Amino acid sequence: MIHKNHGNIAILCSGGDVSGMNAALKHFVEYALLCGLKPYFVYNGFEGLIDDEIQEASYKDVHGIIARGGTMIGSARSKRFLEAAYRQKAKENLDKQHIDKLIVLGGDGSFRGMDLFYKEHAIAFAGVPATIDNDIVGTEYCLGVDTALSVIKSALDNIRDTASSFKRAFVVETMGRECGYLALVSALTSGAELCLIPEVSYDLKEYEQSFQKELAQGRGYFLAVVSEGIKEESIMIAKWFEKKIGIEARVDVLGHIQRGGNPAVRDRLMAYQFVHFAIDGLLGGQNDAIVCYNNGYLNYKSIKEVANIQYQLDSTLVDLFFQNRP
Ligand code: F6P
Repeated sequence: MIHKNHGNIAILCSGGDVSGMNAALKHFVEYALLCGLKPYFVYNGFEGLIDDEIQEASYKDVHGIIARGGTMIGSARSKRFLEAAYRQKAKENLDKQHIDKLIVLGGDGSFRGMDLFYKEHAIAFAGVPATIDNDIVGTEYCLGVDTALSVIKSALDNIRDTASSFKRAFVVETMGRECGYLALVSALTSGAELCLIPEVSYDLKEYEQSFQKELAQGRGYFLAVVSEGIKEESIMIAKWFEKKIGIEARVDVLGHIQRGGNPAVRDRLMAYQFVHFAIDGLLGGQNDAIVCYNNGYLNYKSIKEVANIQYQLDSTLVDLFFQNRP
C-alpha cells in the first residue's frame, strides 16, 4: 500500500563501519518509499552533514549492495559535530532539502551527538546500534557483531590448523576497545584455552602450573584469544608462553579484517528489522529514540538509558568461560 507524502528522511553511518550497513541502506530506501517518505543519503557521516553531502536516494542506489560489507555511503568519526557552530551548519543543510527526520547507524557517541542536535534544532532522529564491539548499553545486539564473530571464527579455525601442526601457542588479538565481548564469545566458540578481556582481572602466574601439566600430558597447542583492551601487549603474552609454559608462540592481531566481509544472515535480517522499526518509530512520533533489541524483541529506548553508562558483559557468558579457571 502506498501511503500519503510523509516528508523527507535521511540516513547516515557514523563511526566504525560494520557489515550489514548496506542491507540497512537498501531497506531504508525501499521502506521509506513505501511509507511515502522521500529518502536521502548523507555521505561520510556527520562530516557529510556539515559539508552538505546529502543526496536523494532511489532504488538504483541500492541495487546489489546487500551482500557487500562496509557502507556504500561512507562513514566518519566527526570531531566537528561536537561543536554547536557545525551542528548549526548541519541543520541548515538539512533544511535546504526539507529533511526533518534522520536515522543514524552508529555507536553511543554518535547518539549523544544526535541527542544534542535534536534538542537544539528539533531534527527527530532514531539511532540504530551498529558496532562490532557490541558495547552499547540497553541492547543485546548491535549490527555487525555476528559477521565480525564469523570472521574471527574462520581466522581461529585456520590458526588452529597451524597451531596443531607445529605444536605452538597462538595469541590472537581481537578488536572491541574496552569491551571483551568479541574475545569472550570467540574464545568460547573456538575452544580456546585462554581468554583475556578487560572486564575480568587475571594473573598469568595462576595459569602456569595447569598449562605446564597439560603440555606434559600431551596437549598439542594452545589458543589464547585476547581483547585489544587488556593491560598487557599480546607480544608479552606470547613471550610468557615461551618462557613459562615452554611452547613456541606466535601472535596474530586480526585488526580490521574483523570489520568487513560478506554480511552474515543475522546482520542482514537485523539491518532490515532495525531500520523498519526506526522508520515506524519516527512516523509514530518517536523523536529521540534508540532502537534496541532485547529478549528477541525490538524496542525504543531513550538516550539516557543507552549512553553514558558502562556496558556490562552478560555474566552467564563470563561464567561459562571463567568458572573453574584460575
Ligand atoms: O569501534 C569499532 C572498532 O573497530 C574498535 O573495535 C577498534 O578499536 C576501533 O574501531 C578501530 O578504529 P579505527 O578503524 O579508527 O582504527
